Amino acid sequence: MDHSRAPLLDALGEYQRLDRYGFTPPGHRQSRGVDERVAAIIGADAFRADVLAAPGIDDRLSRGGYLARAEELMADAVGADQTFFATCGSSLSVKAAMMAVAGGNENGLLVARDSHKSIVAGLIFSGVLPRWITPRWDAERHLSHPPSPEQVRQAWEKYPEAAGALIVSPSPYGTCADIAGIARVCHERGKPLIVDEAWGAHLPFHPDLPTWAMDVGADICVVSVHKMGAGFEQSSVFHVQGDLVDPVRLRHCVDLLMTTSPNVLIYSALDGWRRQMVERGHDLLDAALRTARRTRTELNGIPGIQVMEDELLGAEASHDLDRLQVLLMSPGPAPPDTTRRTGCAGTGSSIWG
Ligand SMILES: Cc1ncc(COP(=O)(O)O)c(C=O)c1O
Repeated sequence: MDHSRAPLLDALGEYQRLDRYGFTPPGHRQSRGVDERVAAIIGADAFRADVLAAPGIDDRLSRGGYLARAEELMADAVGADQTFFATCGSSLSVKAAMMAVAGGNENGLLVARDSHKSIVAGLIFSGVLPRWITPRWDAERHLSHPPSPEQVRQAWEKYPEAAGALIVSPSPYGTCADIAGIARVCHERGKPLIVDEAWGAHLPFHPDLPTWAMDVGADICVVSVHKMGAGFEQSSVFHVQGDLVDPVRLRHCVDLLMTTSPNVLIYSALDGWRRQMVERGHDLLDAALRTARRTRTELNGIPGIQVMEDELLGAEASHDLDRLQVLLMSPGPAPPDTTRRTGCAGTGSSIWG
């Protein structure tokens, strides 16, 4: 596929070039109605790019096929069968994935206990029964590690009729699950694996980063591009592969949950980010990994600071680590009831600085 193209971005550029007037929302009319004090801070250009009725960019962005082509390019860039763009962040995407896999299934869904609030909210609103998978808990450092394949197997033995499994990897600390092993355990039972890869947008684009979910057999993965990529806040994509998840049902779940006014800025930036990553992602990530290595070394040289790495990995810890996330440990002040306490701080870095 021709990855130098960015169909949504190009359509938006053409709309701006033609200087069309939109008679539909958004009500600011490509910035004309915006208070100058707002424009002075946010920038009138942002409002000029916030359009609904650009040719072919209607409220479902489907007329003209721009969205479909942008999604096909994204799928091709990362090697997924199919990709969907979504606004409202992975908070929405993960709910749609849960409902596509387990909605209406009274046997529930295996869910890792270390899940994000959006997953818990998804359970509450969908009524899907959680069948908890216990993650590994590091009591000394006060953090959890993603569950192992063995822990997922044990959960399946307890709840063999569950509709599928959902795990989070990488965690916000950059710690990663053995997704290949977990996918194998699920597929032995013909069940799909959903991976909440909100923190893994960059993973497909550099071999020195942890393997990403689609490469090792996950059926759906949900990615927040705004976290580790250059998307606007709320930009999220789903990737789907294989035949254990019905993509039409997934599309309907997304459609019903999502806004009917998706933001063109978010979608166009996603489109442009995919082009950037295909063309330059490897070099950008190379530079980011070098910066992270240097940062880790220099921080380790500061008395009282320890950058965690080896202690996060192993049979009783995580399978892999995204080293762009720099997690620090420093001895804190001794609380009254103990002699020593450790505290952790993460400096989530992205390739953008
Ligand atoms: C593991 C995990 N999943 C899902 C989400 C939700 O992502 P978003 O902020 O894109 O809605 C987050 C957000 O921090 C997260 O950390």
